Amino acid sequence: MLRVVLLMGALALGSAAQPGSKNTTKPHIVFIVADDLGWNDVGWHNPDVKTPVLDQLAHEGVIFNQSYVNYVCTPSRTAFMTGYYPYHVGTQHQVIFPWQASYVPSNFTFLPEKLKALGYATHMVGKWHLGFCNWKYTPTYRGFDSFYGYYNGAEDYYTHVVATGLDLRDDKDVVKTKNGQYGTYFFTDRVVDIVEKHQADTPLFLYLPFQNVHQPLEVPKRFEDMYASVQDENRRTLLGMVSAMDEAVGNVTMAMKNAGLWDNTLVIFTTDNGGWITASGNNYPLRGGKTTLWEGGTRGVAFAHGKMLQKTGYTNNEMIHAVDWYPTILAAAGGTADAGIDGVSQLDTILSGKPSPRTEFVYNIDDVQTTKQGAIRVGDYKLIEGNAGTPDGWIPPPNLTEETQSDGEDPNNGTWLFNLKDDPTEHHNLADSMPDKLKEMQAKLEEYRKSLVPAMDPPPDPKSTPMLWGGAWSPGWC
Ligand SMILES: *[C@@H]1O[C@H](CO)[C@@H](O)[C@H](O)[C@H]1NC(C)=O
Ligand SMILES: *[C@@H]1O[C@H](CO)[C@@H](O)[C@H](O)[C@H]1NC(C)=O
Ligand SMILES: *[C@@H]1O[C@H](CO)[C@@H](O)[C@H](O)[C@H]1NC(C)=O
Ligand SMILES: *[C@@H]1O[C@H](CO)[C@@H](O)[C@H](O)[C@H]1NC(C)=O
Ligand SMILES: *[C@@H]1O[C@H](CO)[C@@H](O)[C@H](O)[C@H]1NC(C)=O
Ligand SMILES: *[C@@H]1O[C@H](CO)[C@@H](O)[C@H](O)[C@H]1NC(C)=O
Repeated sequence: MLRVVLLMGALALGSAAQPGSKNTTKPHIVFIVADDLGWNDVGWHNPDVKTPVLDQLAHEGVIFNQSYVNYVCTPSRTAFMTGYYPYHVGTQHQVIFPWQASYVPSNFTFLPEKLKALGYATHMVGKWHLGFCNWKYTPTYRGFDSFYGYYNGAEDYYTHVVATGLDLRDDKDVVKTKNGQYGTYFFTDRVVDIVEKHQADTPLFLYLPFQNVHQPLEVPKRFEDMYASVQDENRRTLLGMVSAMDEAVGNVTMAMKNAGLWDNTLVIFTTDNGGWITASGNNYPLRGGKTTLWEGGTRGVAFAHGKMLQKTGYTNNEMIHAVDWYPTILAAAGGTADAGIDGVSQLDTILSGKPSPRTEFVYNIDDVQTTKQGAIRVGDYKLIEGNAGTPDGWIPPPNLTEETQSDGEDPNNGTWLFNLKDDPTEHHNLADSMPDKLKEMQAKLEEYRKSLVPAMDPPPDPKSTPMLWGGAWSPGWC
């Protein structure tokens, strides 16, 4: 008898629509961040890439053609979670390495904290990369009801080890039982589980920063086999990783449908930065890739999907930056961001194709480099000063040979001015031929530079070593 009662209790908890409960009027929001997904690594830009699920969502929704992100992981994730440019936070210099006591300072309010105040259930599955040296910098202390994933920037997809330590957590607990299992499978299972248990009367926010397609290049054989005709082995694996992610998104989509949540769900999909050329990512015909300020590193693949979109099935050319997702998602949730953030809400742009409220943005400003580094966009123009980064050529798939080398300028110390409307692939440096425009843009960059917060880039901290923490990368040393 007791057993029956318990069972019924469990069933009631697990059912999405309880008798008498109402559907929430706020949209469920699924914010998907692919890792290192290149411009040329999705089906809607490159027909050789097999992403049927993402293609369909993108084509049924709105594809963003000028959605910009930062040049590497930590800065972009800072922008997504805070609405601030990383150079206003101190996270603009490269990425947080496991042994560095770097983080997003506590006075920044993360997106899920704001969403919780609006009544949302907030769950995160996947990669954090915004600091973990103290518990207060970790996901469940920054607004997430639950976290299943890893703190660092990358790890083995099967052992879940990065450098000398395990990095896999279920909320705060180390997970030691997944050795040998491909991360994407059990991360997806967790998302499906969250969706199945969710009550439809509560708005749901799912933050899904995927492990795919960051290196190491690892994928179950059946995905790699989808690209038997691709000669280059690394490229074949990378493309398999893209297709594994596509299947994962399909499973999440199916779960949302089965739970009766899908019709009221807004999906936002973006990469965190361009494809990493050294890890077989590709951004052709854009110049450069991840780790560079060229368009290949910063112009990201992105789309939105949902029944609430009023204009769909087209490519939107409005200017969007990574910092905008924070106020946009809050606006979709019926809230507003705090005054002073760098992002602007793009909700009307997304829902109905209205002109973007943004006319300029900062690609990055980082003065920790041996040469100063800064890049801005104003209208159609782009200025890069200092270290633009390498590779700086135009690299076609599937091989990794640079088709055309750059303009002969030192990519680590130069000045480039482009008109991206006429020259989206950055072939024609106008710095010499347009001196007045150059001066105007340089003055603008200096203006932006005035509010620069020094970048955190501490030396390795020996207290971080997993040997002191039972073999896992763990909070507690800063
Ligand atoms: C957080 O604190 C730093 C250092 O005092 C300050 O520069 C920054 O403006 C603050 N940011 C916010 C969002 O409060
Ligand atoms: C998607 O779901 C199917 C059916 O349950 C399963 O076989 C497959 O492994 C799942 N794929 C991923 C990437 O989780
Ligand atoms: C909630 O919405 C779903 C999908 O539109 C629908 O199937 C379900 O019946 C609704 N539930 C309630 C309690 O209104
Ligand atoms: C690389 O690819 C390009 C275009 O697909 C082709 O023209 C070139 O010959 C290839 N180079 C090598 C070394 O395979
Ligand atoms: C960068 O170039 C400028 C002049 O173009 C030069 O003065 C400066 O020394 C260079 N810096 C480095 C680190 O090479
Ligand atoms: C996307 O932007 C490029 C220029 O960067 C442009 O050539 C292309 O026409 C745009 N695509 C669409 C469908 O508007």
